[in-house]
Amino acid sequence: MNNLNRYYKINETVNGYSILKTIGEGRYGIVYLAINDKDEKCIIKQLKKEMLEETRKKLFYEKQILQELDNPKFPKFISEFKDEYSEGYILEYIQGKVFEDLLAEDMYEFSKSEIYTICSQLLELVEILQDNNIVHRDIRLPNVIIKENKELALIDFGLARIIDNKRYVKEMDYWFLGDFLIHLYYSSYKETNSVERPWYEELDLTTEEKIFLKKLMGIKGKYSNIEEIKTQLENIKNMNRA
Ligand SMILES: Nc1ncnc2c1ncn2[C@@H]1O[C@H](COP(=O)(O)OP(=O)(O)O)[C@@H](O)[C@H]1O
Ligand SMILES: [Mg+2]
Repeated sequence: MNNLNRYYKINETVNGYSILKTIGEGRYGIVYLAINDKDEKCIIKQLKKEMLEETRKKLFYEKQILQELDNPKFPKFISEFKDEYSEGYILEYIQGKVFEDLLAEDMYEFSKSEIYTICSQLLELVEILQDNNIVHRDIRLPNVIIKENKELALIDFGLARIIDNKRYVKEMDYWFLGDFLIHLYYSSYKETNSVERPWYEELDLTTEEKIFLKKLMGIKGKYSNIEEIKTQLENIKNMNRA
């Protein structure tokens, strides 16, 4: 009995927040949307017992890292909770839509200029992380929110770590950035041929874009810093305009 995870029900309260709904469930925990009596929403992350027993330390990196970051582009850490059933933490709720929903539900098709803008915004996020010596390691469609004002926020720091230049290197986030952009390019892809080809053949990319993405992903060459990436992005933007 004690080993089972007890899920919170709608209207149950945790640290003064009342559960509105379950948003998702991953390997590490259950994510809820909740609200307090001042009408402030939050995200509650209830950690799974089996994971707590196995890897307690790992589960609290997200807390540690979010506490260090003080920027509206990342959720603020609000508090921790522990009751007789479970434990976890509470994060600021960021209003908006994750890219995964934009693509899968709205079937939104990104134009090249939108992709370049998003790339610049993601680079800004990665730069702030690097300034704090953090590598996120999970910059994917369900973990990036686009707010109503079109600004981006990055969530889900469950895999984020302090850069140690051994196991945790900044290039990991460059790979995710490349992969993220490829997903955006695919939003407008119309299949013409039933034979699957690699992305750099299927997608309508300029030579410069191919070099850029391959270099981000470490398939051919690699970037040694954010400045190089930004410069190359500016070149691509200018070429597309010409
Ligand atoms: N701070 C937040 N603000 C708004 N939505 C969030 C926030 N944190 C998580 N979510 C939503 O909950 C989903 C799951 O949370 P996430 O932190 O990615 O955990 P995991 O992927 O490990 O289950 C996200 O994809 C997003 O839709
Ligand atoms: Mg996630």
